[in-house]
Amino acid sequence: MTGSPPEASSPGRTLMARLDELGRISADSDRLNRQPFTPAHRQAIELVAGWMRLAGMSTRVDPIGNLIGRYEGQDPTAPVLLIGSHLDTVVDAGRYDGALGVLAGVQVVAALHDAEERLPFAVEVVAFCDEEGVRFPTTFLGSKAICGTLDRKVLELQDQAGITVGAALRAFGGDPDALASAAYPPGSLRAFLEVHIEQGPVLEAEDRPLGIVTAIQGQSRLAVVLDGVAGHAGTVPMGHRRDALAGAAEIALLVERRCSATPDLVGTVGRLEVLPGAVNVIPGRALLTLDIRSPSDLLRGQAVAELVQAIHQIAAARGLGCTIAREHDQPASVCAPGLQRVLAQAMRAEGIQVKYLPSGAGHDTMAMAAACPAAMLFVRCQGGISHHPLESMTLPDAEAALRVLLRALRLLALPKARP
Ligand code: GLV
Ligand code: MN
Ligand code: MN
Repeated sequence: MTGSPPEASSPGRTLMARLDELGRISADSDRLNRQPFTPAHRQAIELVAGWMRLAGMSTRVDPIGNLIGRYEGQDPTAPVLLIGSHLDTVVDAGRYDGALGVLAGVQVVAALHDAEERLPFAVEVVAFCDEEGVRFPTTFLGSKAICGTLDRKVLELQDQAGITVGAALRAFGGDPDALASAAYPPGSLRAFLEVHIEQGPVLEAEDRPLGIVTAIQGQSRLAVVLDGVAGHAGTVPMGHRRDALAGAAEIALLVERRCSATPDLVGTVGRLEVLPGAVNVIPGRALLTLDIRSPSDLLRGQAVAELVQAIHQIAAARGLGCTIAREHDQPASVCAPGLQRVLAQAMRAEGIQVKYLPSGAGHDTMAMAAACPAAMLFVRCQGGISHHPLESMTLPDAEAALRVLLRALRLLALPKARP
């Protein structure tokens, strides 16, 4: 891989073509929707595992459903360099979020394989099973299992069809009883690197292909259930109603107001379900989710505490029952300074100006930081659009990312390199 423009057949073209192919594997025919432990997930694993083997890797699927390819190093006992991202998607997703980091890893290993080059340590490429946390009310199942930080209680959590994580995993061919064996022993991981589409507008606005992530903001996810009284839309006077949707609407506006008032805080009500959901029935039940994020754990903690209190007050004032489940709390995470320096050195060596930026989205890198130095390389995203089918990136940027990643690997292979 050189700095010259992509040739007819180049690593970047292969990467872009594979992203298109993987992006067609979906549970739905009209949109990309790939949830963990589904037939689409299985199909994606088989496709990617084939590409891993072509790149000289041995492959395995671990007990939680992560696909892992291994390219052996000169010393099979040396701590492993892990590269990767996730195979799951949001509903109606773009095809780069997650898939890019997996397939970029495969592509740089293919470059080493083609050059018959072995690094002092093994390189493993991981395709995590769950980062989006869309199917189950939990997230980072795969990366937490690898770090040994996955609480077995999550196996009891259910999706909307009432299927537990444990049952879905077992039906998928995973092994919930062997979760502990998915964890890499302490000291066996040298570092983790994740390439990811930026999912925001910063790099594009500054006309830069790549950026190094400094830190990833923390997030809390809450599920709120409001119980009112369903009734006839024509006969119940306004003052006699206990309308669950009206309460939910007040909460959505509260979240918007509270988070708009504080810099460095964002809040979203992303799901709202209204029951029974008929034009002529007063809503008896509303279910809504809150997603609150900040680079400051203190600000996020204060906002969540205030919102929880205010939601109970809104419910009480409207005569609604209210339960709030705190489904996910992930502290903000700083990317490993040593790895950031290696990425910066690789960018400079490739003639690309170094740009540092924080990440607003959550990533497996946050979970991986519990086990080893972890860092991320962002790739420019067109229009800043993500979690959307129009998500896109360019071939030259793909080429640039591959060159920088490969060079970073080789820098890490130098005798005195320290991630
Ligand atoms: C995942 O993309 C998230 O940030 O929620
Ligand atoms: Mn992602
Ligand atoms: Mn995502």
